[in-house]
Amino acid sequence: MAVTARAPATIANVGPGFDVFGLAVDGFHDEVRATEIDEGVELRVPDGLPDDPERNTAGLVAFELLERYDLPGVRLELRKGVPVGGLGSSAASAVAAAVAIDRLFDLGLSEAELLRVAAEGERAAAGEPHYDNVAPALLGGFIIWRSEREYRRLSPPRDLRLVTATPTHVRVPTERARRALREDPPGLEDVVNNLSAVALMVHALHEGDAEAFARLMDCDRISEPVRRRFIPGYDRLEEAAREAGALAFTVSGAGPTVVAACLREDARDVASALREVAGDGWIVRVHRPDERGALDRGG
Ligand code: HSE
Repeated sequence: MAVTARAPATIANVGPGFDVFGLAVDGFHDEVRATEIDEGVELRVPDGLPDDPERNTAGLVAFELLERYDLPGVRLELRKGVPVGGLGSSAASAVAAAVAIDRLFDLGLSEAELLRVAAEGERAAAGEPHYDNVAPALLGGFIIWRSEREYRRLSPPRDLRLVTATPTHVRVPTERARRALREDPPGLEDVVNNLSAVALMVHALHEGDAEAFARLMDCDRISEPVRRRFIPGYDRLEEAAREAGALAFTVSGAGPTVVAACLREDARDVASALREVAGDGWIVRVHRPDERGALDRGG
């Protein structure tokens, strides 16, 4: 018997919500097919990726669950759809693995336990867990994260579109992007700016106001001003996106993916403008918010 689970790409921070906001988006998914075997963890990955399960978040999740629940063994076949670098790629693998193994062995894990296990997989692979990726990948929608006991899922506005551009030729390790923030920390006024923006974004969500939500994504003074410098051509991409109708332009998660927020009717123009300026070596994609997450994506 085999069980397949899919987890969507996620945009962490969503502008000003540093380490607090996360949004699941459609268009890119990681898929994990789990099969019971006699012993241990076997990982099958697409060509070019490391197949050592101890170096992959999906493999690390499997080790953790095998040990904790005294399971025989599992083979994971991983199909990567989420590009690496700012779209929650490692979280998507971890979450899809946790859900697939839970279903294969009928463990009946709670939402909290699935979140914890997936986050631990991320910690082992990336140094620290990023719940602002893991939680929306599991639950879908828009997540406000405070702690494992205090988080909320809200529905994103229907008319919101996110256009992402991911460079395939640039790597900015999350650790480096986080260190840059510690070296160049925000001032008090910057923090107050972000606080007011996140409060208004939550209000916009309750009103279903896509335009206000998108405009507020532009109000980050903690992460974007520091991290934009790691992204080649950022200024030109930003200018092109805004001219084509984007209401916000910012860094997705820790980067180097960038994200333009716009209304549904402008998404095509924004994507065309970004494609033209970005050229080869970038993946440009229009996303709708993903309401389902991996928990709703049984195989
Ligand atoms: N919130 C984290 C950061 C996301 O911006 O560093 C990392 O994926």
